[in-house]
Amino acid sequence: MGPEDLAQVLRHLPSGSKPKDLLVGMDTLDDAGVYQLTSDIALVQTVDFFTPIVDDPYDFGQVAAANAMSDIYAMGARPITAMNLVAFPVETLGVETLSQVLKGGLDKCQEAGVVLLGGHTIEDAEPKYGLSVTGLAHPGKIVTNAEAKPGDVLVLTKPLGTGILSTAAKAGEISYDELVEAVDLMKTLNRDASRAMVETGVNACTDITGFGLLGHLWEMASASRVSCEISWDSVPLLPRVLDLVDLAPGGASANARYLERFTGYEGGTDAFDMVLCDPQTSGGLLISVPGERLGQLMAALEACGAGFFTVVGRVTGKSEGFIRVTP
Ligand code: CO
Ligand code: CO
Ligand code: CO
Repeated sequence: MGPEDLAQVLRHLPSGSKPKDLLVGMDTLDDAGVYQLTSDIALVQTVDFFTPIVDDPYDFGQVAAANAMSDIYAMGARPITAMNLVAFPVETLGVETLSQVLKGGLDKCQEAGVVLLGGHTIEDAEPKYGLSVTGLAHPGKIVTNAEAKPGDVLVLTKPLGTGILSTAAKAGEISYDELVEAVDLMKTLNRDASRAMVETGVNACTDITGFGLLGHLWEMASASRVSCEISWDSVPLLPRVLDLVDLAPGGASANARYLERFTGYEGGTDAFDMVLCDPQTSGGLLISVPGERLGQLMAALEACGAGFFTVVGRVTGKSEGFIRVTP
C-alpha cells in the first residue's frame, strides 16, 4: 500500500457537511489542516511519526521533529507548540536510548521556537517517534498546494536522495560517515525557506516527503488543475545518489508505478524515475512562485539563510495534473 492508496482511503471517509470555519481539510491532500479561530488567526495542525531512519538516536529525534514541523512550514504558518508521540521497547533498547531520541526532538523544538507541551508513550516492539505540531497563521496568508498557476516557476529547497542513501546505509553499502550530509539535510528545518516564501507571496507550496518529488508535484498539479514540467538536469541530488540508485527503497518503485500514467519522460531512464520518486524524509519545500517574483523569492531565500534552493521546473498549462520530465 503506497502513500497514494492511503490517501484514497482517507478521501473516501464520509466527511459530512463542511464546517464553516474549516479552511483546509482532508479533501485536497494538503500538508496540514487549517481551522479559522478569529478573523486574523487560523490554527494549523499536523502530526507525523515513523520508525528510525538513522542509527543514532539523537539524530533520529531531531530528524523526526524537523519532519513533523515541515507540514506547518509548507503552509506558510509558524509552529508554536508540539506533543511527543512515542512507541518504544524500553526493555530491549533501554531508557538511555529513549532519552537521546527525546532530547533530539526537544532540541529541535527549541531551535524552532516551539514549546513542547508533553506527549504520550506506549511500549512497542518496534520504536516509533514523531510529534503532533500546532501552528498559527493569518487566514488570508495560508499557502496551500492548490493554487499553482501557469507561468509559475518551481523552486526546490533541498536536494533529493535521502531515501536511497538511508537504504544504502542500512544495507552496509555506505558508511554512516557517508550518510552525514543526508542526515544534516533531514535535520534542517524548513523554517527559513518558509519565511522567505511568505515574505515574497507565492502561489502554492508543499513539502517533499514519502511520495517523492514527482508524487508531491503531481498532488500540487492535480489540486491546482495544472500541468508541469521538470527538467532532470536541474534537479539537485545528494552525492552518490545516482551510483546507488539500484538500492532505491520499495517505496520509490511503488510511487513510480502509481505516477506512471501522469508522467511523460522525454529521453528519460529508469534511474531518473527512481530518483524523482525516491521517498524523502524531511525533504525540502517545493514552491510555485509567479515568474515575475522569482528574483524576489531567490533574494529572500538568500537573505533568510535558507542554505539551498534551485529552480527545477515550471507550471506549463491548464491541464489537470500531467507532468513532463525533460532531460
Ligand atoms: Co507534507
Ligand atoms: Co506529513
Ligand atoms: Co496519555
